[in-house]
Amino acid sequence: MRIVLALFASVLFLQGQADVNGFWVFRTPVDDGTSRETFFDLKQSGQQVTGVMFQGRRRTTLSEGWIANGKLHFALNVNGQGGAVRVANYDGDLASGRLTTTTAAGATFTGVFERSSLEKAVPPRIAPPALHDVPDNGLVRTPPMGWNSWNKFAGRVTAEDVRAMADAMVSSGMAKVGYVYVNIDDTWELGRDAQGNPTTNKKFPDMKALADYVHSKGLKIGIYSGPGPKTCAGYEGSYGHEEQDAKQYAAWGIDYLKYDWCSADQIYTDDEMQAVYQKMGDALLKSGRPIVYSLCQYGRNGVWKWGAKVGGNLWRTTGDISDRWDSLNRIGFGQAVMNKFTQLDIASAMKPGAFNDPDMLEIGNGGMTGDEYRLHMSLWSMLAAPLLAGNDLRTMSDEIKSILMNTEVIAIDQDKAVKPAKIVSENETSVVLARPLADGSIAVGLFNRSDAAATIAGTWSAIGLGGKQLEARDLWAHQVISVSGDSFSVTVPRHGVVLLRVHAK
Ligand code: GLA
Repeated sequence: MRIVLALFASVLFLQGQADVNGFWVFRTPVDDGTSRETFFDLKQSGQQVTGVMFQGRRRTTLSEGWIANGKLHFALNVNGQGGAVRVANYDGDLASGRLTTTTAAGATFTGVFERSSLEKAVPPRIAPPALHDVPDNGLVRTPPMGWNSWNKFAGRVTAEDVRAMADAMVSSGMAKVGYVYVNIDDTWELGRDAQGNPTTNKKFPDMKALADYVHSKGLKIGIYSGPGPKTCAGYEGSYGHEEQDAKQYAAWGIDYLKYDWCSADQIYTDDEMQAVYQKMGDALLKSGRPIVYSLCQYGRNGVWKWGAKVGGNLWRTTGDISDRWDSLNRIGFGQAVMNKFTQLDIASAMKPGAFNDPDMLEIGNGGMTGDEYRLHMSLWSMLAAPLLAGNDLRTMSDEIKSILMNTEVIAIDQDKAVKPAKIVSENETSVVLARPLADGSIAVGLFNRSDAAATIAGTWSAIGLGGKQLEARDLWAHQVISVSGDSFSVTVPRHGVVLLRVHAK
């Protein structure tokens, strides 16, 4: 039967009657039992094929395409790492219904290529609700601390990894110093059951049992979804199922939700983000379980002005971090918020229960030096950022442990007053920040962004501590340092930091 069909179809091609006009889906299987779907809207004119690919929030125009001798070929230019453009080729014949794509990196994926529809590629729009203020859920009065699977495991994370991280969070001592959330990021999803409830894929056979296990360690568990039809990795999103999903998370025992915009982009404008996020904020409150609400829409549309109004406890302020100095340097100090503001520009938007989130920690993932990781931990603490470790907690060196578990630095992050840090002085290579703390002391961070060791100098009066007898503690050296007179001058390593806690005697 297959052979007959194949022959029939190729005959059609040969006679020039093949018609690829319309919507197609290319489905590639993944070994967790799911498949990734990419939609194409193709147009044919003679042998020439044009069209667009729909993928997540992207729509890409084909760079070339044709049908010849029963074979279909088309290609796309795709933005790769570091702005490089690579070509993805798609080849196959419609008779067999199989297509193979080869990326510039040489990876090959084969899958089925079938007729589909615009509705499947982009589900019909559901109007966003009218705006109202979602009541505060009362959670996380200081920035959430824990671990998230994405930076280290990405799409490979399994339930076993999550259990192992819960074990390691306790055995390493991290739980004792405040880390509590064990968060599963994208790729746990399968689809929906007959009632429309979310289901888990092979890597997460029993979410309730996993949550019970994490709870049995005295920890809390987080999960991930998004307001669009698909998540960023192309898995099932919560679109049109918000209340049902929130209830299911509550039934599993979930304590934290990261909610990632991604494919919602195909349905809603940035101006509608607030209403769309409010929908899940309401749903979580109605779920019957306290669930921390983490917004992830990369800082767009001035989220720091409305994140708390939709019930958000934290909101991402930038695109994704990576384990490299240039990424840390840009997100931490640059105009990485909507390409316009720095983290410090928006620091006063925070209050207990509502935090800016410059993304998860890369400490311990191997791409940066100890000094860079100490700067990462110090800056995130000065910013009152969530401290979500993103490394493999089973294999931490003593140095990495000393960074993630520096209780004196954690105390700055977790300061109850949640007052914003301010810039004391700044030039191209160094920044001095000061953050007032609840006990009247001031955290002072001397950051060296340059590629060589630098001397950073300043005055105590510029920090508001002029004319006072001061006591200063170096939070990385764990010792009191002597202070006299109004000026100070400190040598700070390349890409490094000196972090002090200073109080007037
Ligand atoms: C986006 C988010 C990341 C991660 C991935 C998962 O890129 O910004 O933090 O959650 O999606 O697909």
